[in-house]
Amino acid sequence: MKDLSSSGAWRVAVIGAGYVGLTTAACLAHLGNEVRCSDADQERVDKLANGIVPIVEDGLTELVKWGLHSGELAFSSSNTWAVEGAEFIFLCVPTPQGPSGRADMSYIETVSKEIGPYLSSEAVVINKSTVPVGSTHVVERMLGREDVKVVSNPEFLREGSAVHDFLHPDRIVIGADDEATAIRVSALFMHLGAPVLVTDPATAETIKYASNAFLATKVSFVNAVAALCEAVGADVHQVVLGMGYDPRIGSSFLKPGPGWGGSCFPKDVAALVRIAEDAGYDFSLLKGVIAVNEEQYARVVEKVQRLAGGELQGRTVALWGLTFKARTDDTRDSPALEVAKRLQDNGAKVVAYDPTVNRPMEGLEIAKDPYAACQGASVLVVATEWDEFRWLDFDKVGELMENRAVVDARNLLDRAALRRAGFSYEGIGLI
Ligand code: UDX
Repeated sequence: MKDLSSSGAWRVAVIGAGYVGLTTAACLAHLGNEVRCSDADQERVDKLANGIVPIVEDGLTELVKWGLHSGELAFSSSNTWAVEGAEFIFLCVPTPQGPSGRADMSYIETVSKEIGPYLSSEAVVINKSTVPVGSTHVVERMLGREDVKVVSNPEFLREGSAVHDFLHPDRIVIGADDEATAIRVSALFMHLGAPVLVTDPATAETIKYASNAFLATKVSFVNAVAALCEAVGADVHQVVLGMGYDPRIGSSFLKPGPGWGGSCFPKDVAALVRIAEDAGYDFSLLKGVIAVNEEQYARVVEKVQRLAGGELQGRTVALWGLTFKARTDDTRDSPALEVAKRLQDNGAKVVAYDPTVNRPMEGLEIAKDPYAACQGASVLVVATEWDEFRWLDFDKVGELMENRAVVDARNLLDRAALRRAGFSYEGIGLI
């Protein structure tokens, strides 16, 4: 193994080229390490090897191209090639939600079993994927190597700002059974100037789940407060503003919406409930957070039904936004899709537009532009906070619609201007 460490650089392998793995690989190469990244999807590998990044992440394409050009970054479909001579091996493979709600560890186990015999002695395997508490020991067993350490280093990357979040972390968490290994791993992040929390693996894994669960709790809390505001005639924006001046509360992650979604919150929150249950604790608070989120989808559908005159059967509903939030192209577990499904289950026809979606989607009619989606619609629903929706010509939208009604599930649009233009307007938590 080439000793790069004197130059503050190491040979690193990253297994999995999804938004976490690819971001990790590109950023570690950017920090001067020699990085090999592997993925099972040969088509994705071929694209990446040519500098084509198949996901929307600010700055990622530039970093990948830079890494390829400088020779610090390379891609393959071979995991064993990737780990050859590597001192650090990041596992960034999916841990999807299994049928029971528990995280599915099969990808992690398969990869660990495969690479075990090919690892250099004294290498460190680093769990980046969000894995259940106690998973480092699962990986150790699968690797079958006494001379290889396994640590937990959870990711805190938000989709859409993954590169920024990797290079400007609030904290680095490293869970290891021995401090010396944790210190070795922390050297990878020394240029980032963030506090490094060294702890045991179970604590590190719990930090990750608890952080995501708390963020989801904040969102469910503000969605519940929004429902209260509607019932008592209060303005949720002002309520959040008034709350947020208290530094113990803050105002981040208190934007009402259609509910939380994405590839992390739903999976991680469900997994934490199961982890607690398996350990003998009934996490009833978190079950309530999930219940409020389910209710939020129903509340949006109720608003649409109300503005459609009480009946959705045979109506056309325009849906702006399909991704689970703005600035990403990810529609996994998107609230927009959940709302669309429930509208269709009530007999409505849904015509959707999203700036990042130009492919057919199961059961949905996809419009070529936001105006086309509104043709003959009884109600327009704004489900994702794409900024471009704010600047459209709403007189033109009104002319296209059968009925001037909008359910703004992100409180994105100008309520007063829409009402002046003759629209019935319903937001979330607004009068
Ligand atoms: C999240 C965590 O933020 C990140 O730290 C972790 O590593 C991965 O999971 P992400 O899934 O990309 O990141 O989405 P995030 O930006 O957290 O939003 C999650 C959901 O909550 C989205 O559906 C979003 O629209 C919703 N949300 C977020 C709100 O409805 N209101 C808010 O104020 C914030």
